[in-house]
Amino acid sequence: MRNYGRIALFGAACLAGASITSALMAHGNVTPQAVDTSALPEIGADWVQHNPYRGNATAAKIGESAYGQNCARCHGLDAESGGIAPDLRYLEVGDSGDEWFIQRYQHGSSHDGKVYMPPFGDVLGQKAGWAIRAWLETKHQE
Ligand code: HEC
Repeated sequence: MRNYGRIALFGAACLAGASITSALMAHGNVTPQAVDTSALPEIGADWVQHNPYRGNATAAKIGESAYGQNCARCHGLDAESGGIAPDLRYLEVGDSGDEWFIQRYQHGSSHDGKVYMPPFGDVLGQKAGWAIRAWLETKHQE
């Protein structure tokens, strides 16, 4: 009998989780996972175009975990794509790669009325985005 109680409890927790999730994500089907960026220097509210955390080891560490929770399901574990979304190890390093990266991160990608990638700018913020970019640059491949 004890197991029934557990199963019921688990079911209730799932339901609660599901309704919070659908409230958060009216668009797209990805549940964004909060990223703790409090250890990183503030960069203000305006979006910058070049990574203020490039080469910052703390940022890369935070970015690695943020990537695993928010991007890996499409772009692949450890940034190695299985083919459903571009392999981010090949993104250009440096300033022009930064501009492309942050544009996609902020706005996602939709065409023909279909969401290929959901936008992350409003949900995770730019500090998390630049932390992910700092980590991705450590995985770069030519
Ligand atoms: C639901 C799947 C999905 C998730 C989750 C996702 N992406 Fe994407 N991403 C895509 C797809 C698909 C494309 C290609 C879009 C296109 O070609 O229009 C893409 C493109 C990109 C690009 C441009 C790559 C290039 O070579 O042009 C970047 C940068 C990127 N994503 C970063 C991220 C980051 C960072 C995250 C996590 C915060 C993330 N994505 C989460 C599916 C996803």
